[in-house]
Amino acid sequence: MTDELGPSDPRTLFDVAGRGAVVTGAADGLGFAMARVLARNRARVMLVDTDADVLATATERLLAEDLAVRSAVADVRDAAAIDDVMTRTAGWDGGLDIVIANAGISSGLGRRFGNGLDTVDPERWRAVLDVNLTGVLHTLRAGASRMNSGGRIVITGSVAGLDTDPLVGYAYSSSKAATTLLARNVADELAPRGICVNVIAPGSFRTSIGSRNPGNGQMLEELTRATAIGRMADPAEIEGLTLLLTSPAAGHITGAVYTIDGGVGVARR
Ligand SMILES: NC(=O)c1ccc[n+]([C@@H]2O[C@H](COP(=O)([O-])OP(=O)(O)OC[C@H]3O[C@@H](n4cnc5c(N)ncnc54)[C@H](O)[C@@H]3O)[C@@H](O)[C@H]2O)c1
Repeated sequence: MTDELGPSDPRTLFDVAGRGAVVTGAADGLGFAMARVLARNRARVMLVDTDADVLATATERLLAEDLAVRSAVADVRDAAAIDDVMTRTAGWDGGLDIVIANAGISSGLGRRFGNGLDTVDPERWRAVLDVNLTGVLHTLRAGASRMNSGGRIVITGSVAGLDTDPLVGYAYSSSKAATTLLARNVADELAPRGICVNVIAPGSFRTSIGSRNPGNGQMLEELTRATAIGRMADPAEIEGLTLLLTSPAAGHITGAVYTIDGGVGVARR
């Protein structure tokens, strides 16, 4: 019997081989795991980050596995730099099919830790919105205009952008809420081109984000307690959802928000 790849075969459903992808914030944490799962499934992946050293190490790790990856040091706050990254990826073999707008920063601990309205620092507020919201806008604009039809866009939001959350700062939750609605509106605009746009809303993953915030250890304890599963996630646990949302299997999924949070919403606290 021949091994025909029918529509129910996972090798067809989740086939991203040869697709061109850009992942922002790809040097570390969730972005690196997202870039890695695409590259290991034979997509061509452009890793983008501001941290040149960490980016070089991340890229070398994937090149050592003989994967099709390239890298670009670029800041999502810089529209021209992100335009250039998308142009370069669009000109690389089969063009640009997948954009993952993932780069993001923390705004520190929230009101559970005594950081109420009076403590919001205007400079930090602007810095967080510049990366987490305006940076996503630049990434979506530059990516969408150069993308093949049938493309896939994924935005990394947060459960903190979906409902009240006393653990994180106001700037962070506001930026993630705005980004989520931006993504859902863009999903409507791009649907006629067959481009699907979805949001992954993580709960708590063990990454470097917030590691320099004073009191971060206490924050991690609270984050763990908030889950039903009783532990934080490993970054590799973002891979399956990433592959699903960037694959042919997701052709009818757009404007959706997927939480991946160990059951924060169902936890008895
Ligand atoms: N870790 C979690 O539990 C969690 C939860 C919810 C949402 N998120 C979101 O996931 C995304 C990734 O976070 P992470 O936890 O992997 O953090 P991380 O700090 O481990 O990685 C973020 C990467 O983004 C890069 N970056 C920061 N600013 C940038 C900019 N202006 N331009 C380009 N690159 C930039 C950093 O250098 C870093 O490599 C963020 O959007 C974050 O808000 C994370």
